[in-house]
Amino acid sequence: MASLPDQISQLRTHFMNELREATHSKDFENLKTKYLGKKGPIQSLMISLKDCAPEERPQFGKVINDLKQELALHCENSLARVKLAERNHQLEQEWIDATLPGRPRPQGKLHPITQALNKIVDILVGMGFSIQTGPDVDTDYYNFGGLNFAPDHPARDMQDTFYLNTELLLRTHTSNVQVHAMETYSPPIRIIAPGRCFRNEDISARSHVFFHQVEGVYIDKDVTFADLFATMDEFLSKLLGEKVETRYRPSYFPFVEPGLEVDVKCISCKGSGCRICKHTGWLEILGAGMVHPNVLKKGNIDPEQYSGYAWGMGIERLTMLLSDIRDIRLFTENDLRFLEQFP
Ligand code: DAH
Repeated sequence: MASLPDQISQLRTHFMNELREATHSKDFENLKTKYLGKKGPIQSLMISLKDCAPEERPQFGKVINDLKQELALHCENSLARVKLAERNHQLEQEWIDATLPGRPRPQGKLHPITQALNKIVDILVGMGFSIQTGPDVDTDYYNFGGLNFAPDHPARDMQDTFYLNTELLLRTHTSNVQVHAMETYSPPIRIIAPGRCFRNEDISARSHVFFHQVEGVYIDKDVTFADLFATMDEFLSKLLGEKVETRYRPSYFPFVEPGLEVDVKCISCKGSGCRICKHTGWLEILGAGMVHPNVLKKGNIDPEQYSGYAWGMGIERLTMLLSDIRDIRLFTENDLRFLEQFP
């Protein structure tokens, strides 16, 4: 068996060789366990001390202890160095540049039709009307019969109306809400009904199979034509500006008598004539009239006691006139280049 000094120097050489090859912190941990652990060579040397001559023991014991401390120090130093390097590496991987500018997110906007509806509804609610909704799918009676359409009226023709079956249809106007309201409430009735309407028409730049309307109706004692004029003038000046000029033309709708159409002086050319007003100087904005006595009767309201006015307006048409939009299809194509123009 080699002498103790030889064994020690051999052990040191082996250890130093392995130390040089170690790279990861795990390697150093293993090395420490291997040499300094309970089953390691240093421990064996300690045990073999009992075979030495008693007078040699203190000296050999000290040599072994020194070796043990030397190896332990190597392990600790290397481990500390590698751990630091590993931590730095990790930090480098995780590094972010907090000074980079953020990525802007696109901000959504309300659809131009929703914006117009909101504006109209706000004005009318401010004038004392309350909001009433009605069904998009309704019966022939609410869309036509209850509104005094004769059974053979051309508007009932299959060309204009989407029938779901012999009884049900997609409403062609928001006027159906008038009939529901008269059935549900007794006068005074003062409601507006914003909503979607459907017509079986060829889709083109000017017409679509669905669009939006806002309906209004006011029924009470002594409601007169003057109330209708005053309300429309007030509403349109709030919508289009103080100086807007209105014009009332006689017209025909089965559910009003008399019926009329309301025009405003062209906002674009101020009346001198342009493409938007088709060189007439006026824009057609809405249909209106005094609620027909037959409609009141069907709604169980006595026309001898009560009278009322009603009106209805198309929102797509209005928005097209106000913003010079030349194709109604733009509203449903979801083209951001179009939609983003309405902040
Ligand atoms: N419902 C009509 C349409 O769709 C618009 C209308 C006209 C509504 C006159 C009314 C009214 O309430 O009195 O063309």
